[in-house]
Amino acid sequence: MINNIENQIKNFGYISEPIPDGIDIKREIRRMADEKNAVLLGHFYVDGELQDLCDFVGDSLQLSQQAAKTNADIIVFIGVHFMAETAKILSPNKKVLIPDLNAGCSLAESCKTEDFKKFIEKYSDHIVISYVNTTAEIKALTDIVVTSSNAKKIIESLPKDAKIIFGPDKNLGNYINSVTGREMILWDGACHVHKQFDLEAIIRLKQENPDAKLISHPECEKPILLISDFVGSTSNLLEFTKKDDSLKYIVATESGILHQMRKANPSKTYIPAPALDSTCGCNDCNFMKLNTIEKVYNCIKYEQPEINLDEKLIKRAEKSIINMLELSKKLGL
Ligand code: 13P
Ligand code: SF4
Repeated sequence: MINNIENQIKNFGYISEPIPDGIDIKREIRRMADEKNAVLLGHFYVDGELQDLCDFVGDSLQLSQQAAKTNADIIVFIGVHFMAETAKILSPNKKVLIPDLNAGCSLAESCKTEDFKKFIEKYSDHIVISYVNTTAEIKALTDIVVTSSNAKKIIESLPKDAKIIFGPDKNLGNYINSVTGREMILWDGACHVHKQFDLEAIIRLKQENPDAKLISHPECEKPILLISDFVGSTSNLLEFTKKDDSLKYIVATESGILHQMRKANPSKTYIPAPALDSTCGCNDCNFMKLNTIEKVYNCIKYEQPEINLDEKLIKRAEKSIINMLELSKKLGL
């Protein structure tokens, strides 16, 4: 059986064992989690059904804060690879599991270690700030990691004349430059989900729904951000819809966040912003959506696939994440 499981992981990146007939899969997942002292952490972009199974659902910053402080023996990360990797760096003695090893991130992919090394070498007197959507190798080359919910405040907390390199998301970098007046040097990377929003279709949708507010994630392209009523991380967007008095929103980020918005305020209307080239008519992150309930079941049952990182790499990468957590705490985030 062990060999069979290992082969499945090697061949597919996840365990494809059939689910036993007649079981209540959700109840079984929760039962195994309690029995094994495992915590289920999920990102807002995974399917609503999975979000509801988790002990904690949040944005990238909240999830890393949870991973750093949990007392669980096992962390099951229902999100994407860089998030599980961050959890492993913060909790190296815990077993960190991910339901499907193929759950990557196009943004993290857009920043290859060797290229980034050459890039930062050109600006050796600059502070290197990286978005959390990066590999552990990139974090090891970074001074401070940021997420979309703390980037503005962390960057504003640095001396006004600080020279900064920011990577890999150029849209977030441009946005932070525009709201802070800084002139960070930007790496040219982007997320395939957020760059495919259809500006003209969004403008039409706004005209058809004059009572709707456009709310967008800062990974979106500049023209979309310029016509938005509110820009923020996933948790900021969610909080905005909770506190704001509008009844309708056009939401320009991955569609998974709509689940929490609907739960918080079911009487409001949330329209997923249309994408240029999308088979689902919305904006699904195909990596986040690789997480399925069956994969979560097998992952927790067999305690695989596991995230393993070289100890030296953990040591080199942890500083930049710890810097982020300490600065966030200091700034009340
Ligand atoms: P946040 O949840 O931090 O807003 O990030 C969004 C994202 O793209 C995660 O991959
Ligand atoms: Fe990466 Fe974009 Fe998916 Fe977020 S939505 S995990 S940035 S590919």
